[in-house]
Amino acid sequence: MCGIVGYVGADEVAPILLDGLSRLEYRGYDSAGIAVWSGQDGMQVVKAKGRLQVLSDIVAGGKNVTGSIGLGHTRWATHGEPSDVNSHPQVSEQGRFAVVHNGIIENYMQIKEFLQSRGVRFVSQTDTEVVAQLLEYYYDGDLMGAVSKVLHRIEGAYALGILCADCPDKLVAIRKDSPLVVGLGEGFNLLASDVTAMIKYTREVYYLDDGEIAVLDKDGVQVYDGYFQPVEKELHHVDWEISAAEKGGYEHFMFKEIMEQPKAIRDTVFPRIQDGKVVLDDFTITKEYLEELDKIYIIACGSSYYVGMVAKYNFEKLLRKPVEVALASEFRYCEPIVTDKTLALVISQSGETIDTLAAMREAKRLGARVLSIVNVVGSTIARESDDVIYTWAGPEIAVATTKAYSTQLAVTYLLGLKFAELLNTISDEDYGELVRALLTIPSKIEEILAHKEDIQHYAALYFNHNSVFFIGRNLDYAVSLEGSLKLKEICYIHSEAYAAGELKHGPISLVEDGTLVVALASCTNLFDKLMSNVKEVKARGADVLGISIESQREELHKSVDAAILVPDIHPMLLPSLDVIPMQLFAYYVALMRGCDIDKPRNLAKSVTVE
Ligand code: M6R
Repeated sequence: MCGIVGYVGADEVAPILLDGLSRLEYRGYDSAGIAVWSGQDGMQVVKAKGRLQVLSDIVAGGKNVTGSIGLGHTRWATHGEPSDVNSHPQVSEQGRFAVVHNGIIENYMQIKEFLQSRGVRFVSQTDTEVVAQLLEYYYDGDLMGAVSKVLHRIEGAYALGILCADCPDKLVAIRKDSPLVVGLGEGFNLLASDVTAMIKYTREVYYLDDGEIAVLDKDGVQVYDGYFQPVEKELHHVDWEISAAEKGGYEHFMFKEIMEQPKAIRDTVFPRIQDGKVVLDDFTITKEYLEELDKIYIIACGSSYYVGMVAKYNFEKLLRKPVEVALASEFRYCEPIVTDKTLALVISQSGETIDTLAAMREAKRLGARVLSIVNVVGSTIARESDDVIYTWAGPEIAVATTKAYSTQLAVTYLLGLKFAELLNTISDEDYGELVRALLTIPSKIEEILAHKEDIQHYAALYFNHNSVFFIGRNLDYAVSLEGSLKLKEICYIHSEAYAAGELKHGPISLVEDGTLVVALASCTNLFDKLMSNVKEVKARGADVLGISIESQREELHKSVDAAILVPDIHPMLLPSLDVIPMQLFAYYVALMRGCDIDKPRNLAKSVTVE
């Protein structure tokens, strides 16, 4: 969602802000703006609806705006339509304060009415403007005094960047429930929504915790807690290369990330298999704890939730313990049955998804122990978990997840094995077989990727369909949910995934001549049943694209119009192979439909508002 960048130093700030914002574009946005202060020109604010390029053109790549302190923002509209006036920075009536914000000020209407009753005039429909106006209202020459009063007044989730024309050597950064990182340089300092925006300038960062306030000038950063007491922050070094967040010759980040999956899975899995055993560093869950466990509650959103769906099938089979999968946005409101014997397994690429974070805190409050699977090191979910297992996918930039999904799946296999070993619910033989199979996933994905043109061919056949069903049973159903989401997200095609046995209970009434049905049929024990479902939809005019394993080649070809085959693998690991053609299919269809693949409309990479 909204992206924030701030810089204070000696260099011209506008090009730095634009560069930082360009690296946050992936988060999803509809407008952008910058505020720069200079002694000569005072507070200069330039904002524009649309792509960052529009803003950049207006300010001639930053050359038209001079000054060496400023804030930048990419907005993902919540309150008020995307427009120039609703873009950030939002400025107070007298122009003293410029504010950028990610999150939602929940009580903004009360504050707005209060300020309006005192004669303050508002120009935007945003919740953020109240912060700028309230700062001005409380300001009596003491910047931090005004900040403190505002913080007592506002409710909701926010990462804020504040620039005050009366203190033009300082930026104030505040974090509550929305991510904010401070970068430390030599003679300059930065703030940003995530490290991607600052990695070009510094690798030394502070991750702000909830309630913390940072004051940056060019020579240093002071961090305070909510009571304005100084806090000693731990310095983190970011060690991934900037090239990891660049396209490196590929047309789209999504395609690059699809192609990176073998490496991402190798990096995530191989170091954790030693002498044929799963070894998880810093993993404190014991056999005794697991034996007492009443339930595993998997909590996540979107694709991470679909990883949870796969994990449920595998965990229940391997562990014979009940596993429930909850959408994080529902978990908090369904009076979940959680005890101190419940393990909450929280899955999140970004580690910042607000619903997942809030659900995780609720699970903790109810007594659960939290184990998380996270991609972004230092993210809030990672820091607040009892145990964390990182997916080593590297930065994922495309909004539609691919390599994060695949590495999350891989971690669930590792966890299934580890838990089963501790609980003694797996034989040595089955354990060894599963470990060996796990190590073959990357090379088998490479085989699928080597034949990507076949999938491009099917995309060319079917890209014009506007309604698509995915059907599957068991693990095939779980992974088809992800295939269907990919098509919705980046191709804007209405698609639904159904457990194939459910078709007859309603959805089959929608199948007519030319409906595309993607049938996942890789679970061999359910192959015949799935083929019956294929016959049912074909009898009603559907075109069927089947996906199965090589050993079913002949049988599959008998029933479907087009077939995609993946290599055979241990049945529990099938989702890791099945998902690849579905990702590629969605990618090529989106390409043929001319969609904005990396930045699909209305979507944000990291969803930091409820
Ligand atoms: O960062 P998270 O894994 O918590 O994000 C959860 C979802 O927002 C995410 O998986 C979303 O569904 C993806 N855009 C799907 O491609």
